[in-house]
Amino acid sequence: MILVTGGAGFIGSNFVLDWLTAEGTPVVNLDKLTYAGNLGNLVSLSDDARHVFVRGDICDRELLAGLLRQHRPRAIVHFAAESHVDRSIHDPGGFIETNVVGTFSLLEETRAYWAGLTGDEREGFRFLHVSTDEVYGSLGPGDPAFTESTAYTPNSPYAASKAGSDHLVRAYHHTYGLPTITTNCSNNYGPYQFPEKLIPLVILNACEGKPLPVYGDGRNVRDWLYVGDHCSAIRVALAQGMCGETYNIGGSAERANIDVVTTICDIMDELRPQGAPHRKLVTYVTDRPGHDRRYAVDTARIRRELGWQPTKRFESGLRATVEWYLGNMDWVRSVTSGDYRRWVETNYGARSSA
Ligand code: NAD
Ligand code: TYD
Repeated sequence: MILVTGGAGFIGSNFVLDWLTAEGTPVVNLDKLTYAGNLGNLVSLSDDARHVFVRGDICDRELLAGLLRQHRPRAIVHFAAESHVDRSIHDPGGFIETNVVGTFSLLEETRAYWAGLTGDEREGFRFLHVSTDEVYGSLGPGDPAFTESTAYTPNSPYAASKAGSDHLVRAYHHTYGLPTITTNCSNNYGPYQFPEKLIPLVILNACEGKPLPVYGDGRNVRDWLYVGDHCSAIRVALAQGMCGETYNIGGSAERANIDVVTTICDIMDELRPQGAPHRKLVTYVTDRPGHDRRYAVDTARIRRELGWQPTKRFESGLRATVEWYLGNMDWVRSVTSGDYRRWVETNYGARSSA
């Protein structure tokens, strides 16, 4: 049995599905079901006794203690977080609450649980903390990619809250010996991503003939990793990673935002020719405040020490993702609730065209 937090979100639900296929051992999935969590991602598991879903908050220490006592997991994989940079700019409080206080609560209850384990159980227990490359800050065009020893320089409230959680995890290993592993991954894309993030937002707007909002000059660079490759990296890190260590994960696929958007347009031209050319929908809008210019991740360590590498190239992964969204419009309709419409109004309503 493993305990997953945030397993109804984008990466968490992909991970639960991947885990049950690849490993097959049971999963307790603790998720608060915020706007970003959706049990529709996991309908294929509705009759699967290996998946136990619990709705709850990682800040609820009584709930955490009870779950650990009842299920006695051999590992915790911690995804639960507020994850969207733009939302963290509009309203940072929830990011501190979940990402910092929530991770602290989880660490405290895990420490108490782990202290009560004996022998092999204690030896084999792992706490894997899922984090982001955004904690390292922003790179210039010629700078070397982030390594595990790059100094933390978080720039957005989201990145700062994730950096805070990473530091707590580090301290719990250093001070109490808790067997932790931290992974810092670049931007993910793929099925079940909530359509507030760049790639699904652009796919769905292109479908509806709506403007494709590109922040600033569109030359900000992100490294992109297909979500299934992130899941396999987490499995490998959990199985073979060294306690107290961190592993960078990425797709070695740096792309400028405008190139991502126009590539989606070209795929859409093929799959939905009636809307072509979709590039005419590209609309430059006011930049995000404090917008990091470039992220790039050096993944030499996880490749060398754990033998992991990504399997999907960006262009084929992007095509598969566009096809997935076009084929899953019921899922899209189920997640684009009132909250989603309010968000679009708040974020894009405030951005006049640049
Ligand atoms: P997401 O926003 O899609 O999902 C987050 C999930 O956590 C949701 O299901 C939500 O209901 C749940 N949640 C939120 N607050 C909670 C709370 N207090 N208690 C319990 N559950 C709560 O996020 P994601 O994109 O799947 O990201 C998952 C993790 O991976 C996050 O920790 C994020 O920082 C990290 N990460 C994401 C990316 C990316 O590109 N999306 C890249 C690197 C790292
Ligand atoms: P996003 O998907 O929000 O991820 P992150 O901020 O964590 O990297 O954004 C990816 C990039 O795309 C980022 O540089 C901001 C930019 N972006 C746009 O240009 N337009 C948009 O509408 C969104 C949501 C993002």
